Amino acid sequence: MKITVAGATGNIGSAVAQALLEAGHTVRVMVRQPAKVEALVRQGAEAVVGDLEDADFVRRATAGAEGLFWLTPPQLAAPDVLAWQNQIAAHAAAAIQANGVSRVLNVSAIGAHRPNARGFVRQFPVVEQALSLPGTATLHLRPGWFMENLLAQAGSIKDQGKLFVAVGTQFALPLISTVDIGRYAAQALTAPEAATGVVHLVGPEILTGPEIAASLSQVTGRQLEWVALPPSALGDLFRGFGASEDAIRLYIELFEDFNRTDGVYALPLPDAVRTPTTLEQFARQSLLPLL
Ligand SMILES: NC(=O)c1ccc[n+]([C@@H]2O[C@H](COP(=O)([O-])OP(=O)(O)OC[C@H]3O[C@@H](n4cnc5c(N)ncnc54)[C@H](OP(=O)(O)O)[C@@H]3O)[C@@H](O)[C@H]2O)c1
Repeated sequence: MKITVAGATGNIGSAVAQALLEAGHTVRVMVRQPAKVEALVRQGAEAVVGDLEDADFVRRATAGAEGLFWLTPPQLAAPDVLAWQNQIAAHAAAAIQANGVSRVLNVSAIGAHRPNARGFVRQFPVVEQALSLPGTATLHLRPGWFMENLLAQAGSIKDQGKLFVAVGTQFALPLISTVDIGRYAAQALTAPEAATGVVHLVGPEILTGPEIAASLSQVTGRQLEWVALPPSALGDLFRGFGASEDAIRLYIELFEDFNRTDGVYALPLPDAVRTPTTLEQFARQSLLPLL
């Protein structure tokens, strides 16, 4: 099949493109910096260069495609983040319709099932709606909490033996590897029968912060501690990354939700497909080399 992949330099998109190439599909990747996808191009991917903010680019990049892998990229600098995300989704929807793309896989998130979600999560059902188009088989993947989020802790693990995360020690996170998400997405997009609707996706473990620290302690051979920051502490951190005040507000709301018993990851979670990679396997593969 001919598949166009958005976000192909990112965690999930790169895994999707890799899995599609390995399965023999024709892959076109949408990128802003082609140097980042040289390895994919060497394996046969076509790179088209442009920005998802450019509706014409998205339309051109999906011309002739039977399938589209789509995600809403983080855009922390936007003064109105949700309006920016709506605009990007509208570009995808227009391109899908203009080109008659028959299959779409959209990355959403667990939490989209909750009517009262706050922060970024309340946007996921809106984007799902925008991409559910007549005549197109759209599957919305709702994954749990990415193990890759932990890679940002490599410095403090190395220097202080601590993970600083704004999630209280009593709250469990449904961990998942983005490589597993990418592999699942590639298979679903190219399955003999086109899939529609929603699939929740969670890895083999749902762990609290102290359980995560214990697992990483085993892998690293160091006694690690999970330090729960208050969500309000994220303001300065994200300001340092150039986030707008709007993005900071959405992040704080999101993390406040993680710290509620009826929050995004409140148990029981919706029924989910379970993916294989354990936290220990992920840590050995991706975290240890950073330490
Ligand atoms: N983190 C979590 O725990 C979690 C949980 C559930 C769902 N999610 C969702 O998962 C998605 C993130 O997936 P990910 O980790 O694979 O993302 P990622 O690694 O941050 O990658 C983002 C990709 O989008 C591209 N991109 C950003 N802005 C762009 C623009 N204006 N035009 C073209 N390309 C652009 C980036 O390209 P460049 O290389 O050019 O920057 C990169 O390829 C988000 O929708 C998030 O809400 C996250």
